[in-house]
Order: sequence, then C-alpha cells, then structure tokens
Amino acid sequence: MAFLPIIVAPDPRLKLTCDPVIDVTDELRQLMDDMLDTMYDAPGIGLAAPQVGVTKRVIVVDVTKNDDERHPYQMVNPKITWRSEELLDYEEGCLSLPEQYAQVSRPEKIRIKYLDFDGNAQEIETSGILATCIQHEMDHLDGVLFVDHISKLRRDLIIRKLKKYKAQLSSKKVGVRG
Ligand code: NI
Repeated sequence: MAFLPIIVAPDPRLKLTCDPVIDVTDELRQLMDDMLDTMYDAPGIGLAAPQVGVTKRVIVVDVTKNDDERHPYQMVNPKITWRSEELLDYEEGCLSLPEQYAQVSRPEKIRIKYLDFDGNAQEIETSGILATCIQHEMDHLDGVLFVDHISKLRRDLIIRKLKKYKAQLSSKKVGVRG
C-alpha cells in the first residue's frame, strides 16, 4: 500500500494532455492500486493519474459510500462512446482543489470503453453520480478541471483561494494531508 502526493491547483501539471497507455504492465497496475489507496485515504471518490504527476490516461473511481461494499473501477484509456442529451447537475469537488465546490452540468448517462486492470477491453453504460465522476476524472486527462466548466468570475475566486491555501501549506501553517 502506498500513498501518493496529490498535486493541488493551480499547477501546470494539471493542465497537460495525458498520453494513451500502450501496455497494461505490472508497473501500471501498481500505479492503479496506489492511486486507489491514495483516493480512499484522502478520502475521495475519484482520482486521475495527472493528479499524482503521471501523464497517462488512467483513472480510478469508487462512488460507494460503505467501506464494506467497495466497488472500484480502474480504467485505462477511457473513451466515451455515447452521451445522453439529458444533463445532471451535481455539486463537484476535487482532491486537487481542496474544500472548493461548484455545480457542474454534465450528460446524465454515458457509455464508456476502457481497458481494465488486466488489460481487457470493457464497455459499460452508467448514469448518475458514477457517470458524473467518470466524466470529471476523464477531464483531468485533457488538463480540464471542474472549475473550467463554471464562470470565469467564480473560477478566479476559487483559484485565488487555492493560491492562498498553497501559500499557507508551504509556510507550514496547515498540516498536509493528501
Ligand atoms: Ni478532480
């Protein structure tokens, strides 16, 4: 079990476009397991590889609330193949934007293709918070944060707060966690 440091915005590493994975190797599986451990520890419901400084198209998601009924997804090269026209508004947060939230509107249902932990091709259709979370994590793979979906005014306000938060972190006034 390993916990990886999570990059906090604003940071140029969160704005990069990630590379597709060619091979699902043991090294990549280790990364996916470490990402899941890091996400549960934070705690969060999703994490994308660029948030831990790896520019590969990998995400992990688990929207279950109960520790006894965990249902994690570890997705390599996720690709949306269908989106519903109906939208769902959801109050989103992000481990890279601690304590910041905003309502974001996204397709309510999606179909998604990806490679699983063993490198096998999968395709699932999903809706609700799981669909929202997958779309949020996939945005990270193209350098997009949830605040990029809201007004510039509100985005600038959140980024200002984060800059202040990071300044406090670096002067050790706030404990670091996740
Ligand atoms: Ni996020």
